[in-house]
Amino acid sequence: MDVNEKLEMCYQDMRRRTDFRPRLALVLGSGLGDFAETIRVQDTVAYKDIKGFPVSTVAGHKGRFVFGYVEDVPVVIMQGRVHYYEGYDMTDVALPIRLMYRMGARALILTNAAGGIDPTLRPGDLMLITDQISSFVPSPLRGANLDDLGCRFPDMSGIYDKELGQTLADTAKQLDIPLKRGTYVQMSGPNYESPAEVRMCAILGGSAVGMSTACEAVAANHMRMRICGISCVSNMASGISENPLTHEEVQAMADQAAPRFKALLYKGIAAIGALESFKALYPGSDGR
Ligand code: HPA
Repeated sequence: MDVNEKLEMCYQDMRRRTDFRPRLALVLGSGLGDFAETIRVQDTVAYKDIKGFPVSTVAGHKGRFVFGYVEDVPVVIMQGRVHYYEGYDMTDVALPIRLMYRMGARALILTNAAGGIDPTLRPGDLMLITDQISSFVPSPLRGANLDDLGCRFPDMSGIYDKELGQTLADTAKQLDIPLKRGTYVQMSGPNYESPAEVRMCAILGGSAVGMSTACEAVAANHMRMRICGISCVSNMASGISENPLTHEEVQAMADQAAPRFKALLYKGIAAIGALESFKALYPGSDGR
């Protein structure tokens, strides 16, 4: 089955389960999973119930789409994402993003936990992603182009939408939450980086490093979605601090920053929903 057939199969299966039309898609990173339960939930669909959908190999993983409203903004939330390091083809990692687009979402918020490279970042900091380096992982656009979604050689000069980013920055300011800015580097994982790799990322201009997000942003930008992203700095990257990294420590700091992060997301989504340029993405009398 080719990439397009699989996407259509998933889409048709989704439409049998929900007729919800999201406007905004949100991918939740480490520590943020329960954000999905704080919205006005309309429908949930487990990844394992969608025919052809890549299901996480991680035990106890809560993998599902949650559909509902943040104030009056119709959203679809990925509670648990699909990672390249789990062994999927990059087109499978991008499939959920394409599926949310097919369902109606034209704006996307990506979140993650990341290691801080920039020495001005501190564990617990939130960083607005202003650009990215995805060159260390394959492009999800490799293979036959999906002409219905986007062009063969898409421009990547402005992946992260300035107005959405500024709206999140303004919201952070109102909430008195410091929000830094920087470039996200995606590595394939699942191993953390070596200190030399982190030094390389620093030389390349990276501010924070993680194992997700950039590939999703490439797939979304191919479809001309409006994208913004926030990293939670869960640790200083390897070699920046002396300590060896453990998943538990990364998880613990992500959990600690989660209340601030969730407050920013909730208010930020409401603020994005109120933008004229956002409403204009959905012409029609019912506003969709
Ligand atoms: N490296 C890669 N991925 C990560 C890190 C890191 O230091 N922290 C959280 N996710």
